[in-house]
Amino acid sequence: MNILIADDNKIARETVKFHLQNTTHTIFEASDGAQTLSLYEKHDIDVILLDLKMPKISGIEIIRTIRKQQSKSYTFLIVLTVDNKDDTFHEAFEAGADDVIIKPIHASLLKYRLETGERLLQMQDWKSLIYALAQMIESRDTMTGDHIDRVQSITKIIANTLKDMGHFSMVLTPKYIEELALASTLHDIGKIAIRDEIMNKQSSLTPEEYEKMKNHPIKGYEVLTALEEKRISINFMDTVKNVVLYHHERYDGSGYPYGIDGEDIPLEAQIVGLADVYDALISARVYKPPYSFEKTRQIILDNKAKYFSPILVNAFIKAEDQIKNHAST
Ligand SMILES: [Fe+2]
Repeated sequence: MNILIADDNKIARETVKFHLQNTTHTIFEASDGAQTLSLYEKHDIDVILLDLKMPKISGIEIIRTIRKQQSKSYTFLIVLTVDNKDDTFHEAFEAGADDVIIKPIHASLLKYRLETGERLLQMQDWKSLIYALAQMIESRDTMTGDHIDRVQSITKIIANTLKDMGHFSMVLTPKYIEELALASTLHDIGKIAIRDEIMNKQSSLTPEEYEKMKNHPIKGYEVLTALEEKRISINFMDTVKNVVLYHHERYDGSGYPYGIDGEDIPLEAQIVGLADVYDALISARVYKPPYSFEKTRQIILDNKAKYFSPILVNAFIKAEDQIKNHAST
């Protein structure tokens, strides 16, 4: 790939170059904003590693300028910053950044983020886009393991069971269920905007950290909206957006981010929400051991008409053998 390192600090540029020394990438360097845009215009730059605080033109302005370009192929923008603040993250993503790395940069982290960028750039169709995004989410969350794959499978089982039981038969077409299963892989896409130390924390989150984590549905929605603005979209974006934004809402209104309840919660978000909770219960987390299937089943039953719609819990119970067998495979 053609990688442009844009940083006014020579030592910072040298550090990134050092990390990339054994790769086949072609490296360009810019020491200010004007030079960054000039090199971007002259060459086919695949990735820009961009410092936000640069003379002449700021990093944010550069991102906005590049995102306005319609004629050039997509450039993956990774912001490098020492400013570990939510506002900085928000501003960068809102402007159109794809990723943020906090300095000092670790070689392996940079390598993985560049690989993610490369995968996104190589995407041929929306399935590849979804796969790449799902991988990006999983690479950010060391605790999930195969969480995304399991949520996808369980989502499919519950949706098919609901259909077999005669519920939502107009909605739950095979095509919709296939799309919903794919959409479920993106449910936590907003976690890419949550800081590394919260994502990778090996103990329970503090109340303050938990509040930040609770922003991930809204952050995810913002990422999807930003993708749409860059004309990267999929044909069932509304389903994906509903899953991302509402998968932590609960039937009794006790969820987040909005506390909506009952059938106001889109069906797709209810199904993925149940699959997500099931997998969190059955799996080990830093704050809990893995629960047995029986204990997990009981917690879900206890939350019938509380966290979960009664119809969904009925479908879960009807499909329990299938879900249990899936969990043990
Ligand atoms: Fe989530």
